[in-house]
Amino acid sequence: MVTAQGISTKLPNEMRHRKNIMSFHYKEGYLYCEKLRVKDIQEQVPYSPFYLYSLAQLETNYTAYQKALAGIDSIIGYAIKANNNLALLKRLSALGSGAVLVSGNELQMSLAAGFDLRRTILNGNGKTLEELRLAVEHGVLINIDSEFDLAHIQETAKSLDQPANVLIRINPDVDPQVHPYVSTGMKNSKFGIRNERLNWFLNEIRKDQLLNLVGVHCHLGSTIKKVRIFRDATEIMLAFIRGIQAEGFSPRYLNIGGGLGIDYERTGEEIPTPSDLIDSIRDLLPKEITLIIEPGRSLVGNTSVFVNRVTGVKTNGNKHFIVTDGSMSELIRPSLYDAYQHIQFIEPIEGAVETYDIVGPVCESADFLGKARALPTPHEGAGLVVYDAGAYCHAMSSNYNLKMRPPEYLVDGDTFTCIRRVETLDDYLRLFDV
Ligand code: LLP
Repeated sequence: MVTAQGISTKLPNEMRHRKNIMSFHYKEGYLYCEKLRVKDIQEQVPYSPFYLYSLAQLETNYTAYQKALAGIDSIIGYAIKANNNLALLKRLSALGSGAVLVSGNELQMSLAAGFDLRRTILNGNGKTLEELRLAVEHGVLINIDSEFDLAHIQETAKSLDQPANVLIRINPDVDPQVHPYVSTGMKNSKFGIRNERLNWFLNEIRKDQLLNLVGVHCHLGSTIKKVRIFRDATEIMLAFIRGIQAEGFSPRYLNIGGGLGIDYERTGEEIPTPSDLIDSIRDLLPKEITLIIEPGRSLVGNTSVFVNRVTGVKTNGNKHFIVTDGSMSELIRPSLYDAYQHIQFIEPIEGAVETYDIVGPVCESADFLGKARALPTPHEGAGLVVYDAGAYCHAMSSNYNLKMRPPEYLVDGDTFTCIRRVETLDDYLRLFDV
């Protein structure tokens, strides 16, 4: 699968017959994941809530990036933070993906998943010396984020007497037009160097025999819906590359980060595809440059639904609530970013349509999965899903209120397997030495 360009347009055999499989769709009022009825899965598995993934959707998403990048020397670096399930990581590494890391543990996971670490990138504004040590030992590309980060990279390379391949993280200061919590490439961001200090960084790198400056990096933000934003940033980054070349360096990599949005609202709104994104910058890319992209959400977001059971329905006279067994502990995006994720039942529901807040059992008023949704009144035990739960949902889950991290299941055609068992209270109690 991996060619000199790092990508291939050839699909493995097993993918060819999967190509036309629909991931999540309704038939006679029931939600299906590929060929399986989600209600049947819910009745068979021993725990609720749970995450359910479609392998076909994951492969479709990866292939969309491969196709988009045809003819461009490139690395697809999957941003592991979006979803670190080992089974999914193994699938992505087998497809030829590189990886984008933000911690030493993500580095260890990517080793376990079989990623080629020379095609991985370590990001972060607070990398520790231990994390840098692992990265240098394994030949991972490292983004320089600040003066102290550079000093730590230098110290690490020196103590190991090994070279470090570095990129400089620049803030192009292009507004990604997203929620402030997921905007990362503006001048005031906590990430990246102060651009006016670029020459200082170049001089430091020039003086250090063990540092190879191999490129520049930026990440504008997440849930971006306009490709113009990527084009503007690419133009700015290429100007930086020309400046760096003029200083006598030969940077090979232009890393434009991740950030492509997905259709959370499911209203059919035109969301740019990977091809739209790449086509918007294709004419700008010089031949000698290898493009790195770092998609997370757009690779895994729509591969999963979060499957709940309705515990009950209540009203306070003004507001009506559907109370589910899933909560902000397992899926925090609505509470944290006021993010919209679509919610539907997995089976036909006959009750009268009402405007509901869908809330969990956690002792927080911020605990909701959705607000003001017009839904039929369900019976207790009815199955309800939160869509687009593949990115930043399980990965951001917690044990708040001592809820246990839910299990994950993967559907492949007409079979499903457990790809992560549920956490148990025994797992949790084992952490205490008492
Ligand atoms: N590269 C870097 C340097 C990043 O910081 C991120 C995400 C990515 C790539 C991947 O971005 P993506 O393609 O997934 O948008 N928890 C938030 C998202 C935080 C994103 C953090 N950085 C959410 O649930 O929306």
